[in-house]
Amino acid sequence: MSAKITFIGAGNMASSLAGGIIAKGYDPTQITMTDLNEDILLSNRTKLGVNTTRDNIQACSHADVIVLAVKPQVMGDVVAPLHTIVEQRSPLIVSIAAGITLANLEAWLGKSAPLVRCMPNTPALVQSGATGLFANTNVSDQQRDLAKQILSAVGLALWVENEDQIDAVTAVSGSGPAYFLLVMEAMMNAGRDLGLPDDVASQLTLQTALGSAQLAITSDVNVAELRRRVTSPAGTTERAINIMQDKGLEEIFAAALKGAYDRSKELAS
Ligand SMILES: NC(=O)c1ccc[n+]([C@@H]2O[C@H](COP(=O)([O-])OP(=O)(O)OC[C@H]3O[C@@H](n4cnc5c(N)ncnc54)[C@H](OP(=O)(O)O)[C@@H]3O)[C@@H](O)[C@H]2O)c1
Repeated sequence: MSAKITFIGAGNMASSLAGGIIAKGYDPTQITMTDLNEDILLSNRTKLGVNTTRDNIQACSHADVIVLAVKPQVMGDVVAPLHTIVEQRSPLIVSIAAGITLANLEAWLGKSAPLVRCMPNTPALVQSGATGLFANTNVSDQQRDLAKQILSAVGLALWVENEDQIDAVTAVSGSGPAYFLLVMEAMMNAGRDLGLPDDVASQLTLQTALGSAQLAITSDVNVAELRRRVTSPAGTTERAINIMQDKGLEEIFAAALKGAYDRSKELAS
């Protein structure tokens, strides 16, 4: 029989995760979702066939896994009342909340709680996410597999070696979609300035982003080599790349990601 999974908070991320694991064959009757908003619960109940309730304690009383999917600012108020259940039954706790550390969770739930902290990203909402996970030492191998199974249902899920690396994950993939979107926006604007109609500049840019990612994912060489192979000497691509590098593109990305990493640490402190 599959593990009983409870999602606390049934918003965008929880719906995607639950929808993702059900699409991969998970029994929806083993899933319970809670939320303050009855409309959100009704929508999940109807679309996914999961159990729903507004009572977090009841929803967690038989859970094998509790996925914490509420906003970070309400996390303390939401999880503190679960302390007794967690202490008595030791269900796996999976938090997807940005900036909530294992120390925060241990303070609310006790030092013996099996905890996994994850950093997913927005493309998880379209099953193309990228998530970094870190577990504390209370988590069993079976629980690790379960956590990975849940996050893998909406894209790539990779374990990191220490909790610090979750801040690096935040800088790379957590905030990463916005970097690529900014690059796409700049390319669309530049294409328009060169005379392309709006929709043509937009469609060509989006397809090029998708195609480049697919090429890189399926290639047996790294992205630097792949780029060299599509850059002919003295050609158009080389001219563009030279201008980007002269203007410091690599340095800009290094500084930007360091900024995101530092901010992630500040938010968690
Ligand atoms: N969306 C992303 O791309 C993304 C990426 C990385 C990490 N995350 C993390 O994922 C978490 C959820 O994000 P989201 O975008 O799914 O947020 P969301 O759509 O706002 O979902 C959170 C839900 O939790 C409900 N809630 C609030 N208090 C509750 C309580 N006491 N008991 C049960 N439910 C309660 C909220 O109801 P009300 O609206 O009525 O308050 C809301 O429906 C956040 O911690 C965020 O940091 C999200």
